[in-house]
Amino acid sequence: MNIELSRREWMKGGSAFALAALLSGEASAQDMTVPGFVPSPETPLRLSSNENPYGISRAAKNAIIEALETSHLYSSRRDRRPILAELLAKIEGVDPSNITFSGGSGEILKTLGLITAVEGGAVLTADPTYHGLTRYAINRNVPIKHIPVDASMTIDLDAMKEAYTDDISIIYLVNPNNPLPTIMEKNKLRDFCIEMSEKCLVFIDEAYHEFVENTDYATMVPLTAIHENIVVARTASKIHGFAGLRLGIGYGSEKWIEKINEYITGSSNSLALAAALASYEDTETQEFVLQKNRESKKIVYDLFDKHQVNYLRSNTNFIFFETGIDVNEVRKRFQKHGILVGRPFPPYTTWCRVSMGKPEDMVYFAEVYEREFAS
Ligand SMILES: Cc1ncc(COP(=O)(O)O)c(C=O)c1O
Repeated sequence: MNIELSRREWMKGGSAFALAALLSGEASAQDMTVPGFVPSPETPLRLSSNENPYGISRAAKNAIIEALETSHLYSSRRDRRPILAELLAKIEGVDPSNITFSGGSGEILKTLGLITAVEGGAVLTADPTYHGLTRYAINRNVPIKHIPVDASMTIDLDAMKEAYTDDISIIYLVNPNNPLPTIMEKNKLRDFCIEMSEKCLVFIDEAYHEFVENTDYATMVPLTAIHENIVVARTASKIHGFAGLRLGIGYGSEKWIEKINEYITGSSNSLALAAALASYEDTETQEFVLQKNRESKKIVYDLFDKHQVNYLRSNTNFIFFETGIDVNEVRKRFQKHGILVGRPFPPYTTWCRVSMGKPEDMVYFAEVYEREFAS
């Protein structure tokens, strides 16, 4: 396996313009979207944060350019928020009054952590899972109860139900989960949400919703319009590529939407809203990203099958695999070749999370894996 050769081939594939940009130093770690991007320890391939390697769509870019003209204005009641709420309400089958926006879904997670800190109660969640809400809540002295995932590395709803006590004010579930790209079975989850929302808020974080192609999965957004204590968060950061642009979406009853709006400290910006109006209508680009994600996952599955590596089949844009080596050492070995992979996720410290880049990125990842880890 000749990595240098593969890099040269890769450079040849880029356009002259992209190569010029690269050589002039314009291409950086953030520029994986530039054709001809070549990974190096200084400008690494970011397979660490579950970002979209294609960036925002052309339609979104055009919408931003147009929206720049009015970006100096504070938003008014006639701004893009109600129009986007109408569009998403139609897509999801809820009412616009069930929707709120934020600067990334992380802000909705933190807001619910803040509400718990101010109004009292504890958080019940899985382990491991995404830390956006719990880290914020812990810093405000909110007690957190973590329930380990089951033997199939899936969030254990039976154990969560058993662990519920009267002091719990919010149950936070990530579906599909992160860093474990597993899902909870839809009927079991629906029953859980309905039953437990009689006792406390059930909050489902569906950041990776658009990537799921598993018939055992269902979104819980429709429940938010019927049951008062169920909230769902979505993000435009993943399939729409808005991680830097920032747009989160909260779905909930009018009571919870009002409460989130009352506590939230930031807001969505006019460029992100304009871009989202274009991007959520642009199903062709979403399908393109999904197809590329499938291709990338296949390259990594084939690699791991070939080397009999233990991994979880993914419902997201990342794969979790076992190396048997401390993940900090694994990260160093990938970094030498210009690849960033996920941070440690205890207790799985000999496992590694790799985000899906473009298929050609994953070919390079496979080459580096074989060189560094295959015997
Ligand atoms: C499960 C989960 N929820 C929420 C977020 C926050 O996303 P953002 O704040 O970009 O919308 C992430 C980011 O990776 C995530 O993985």
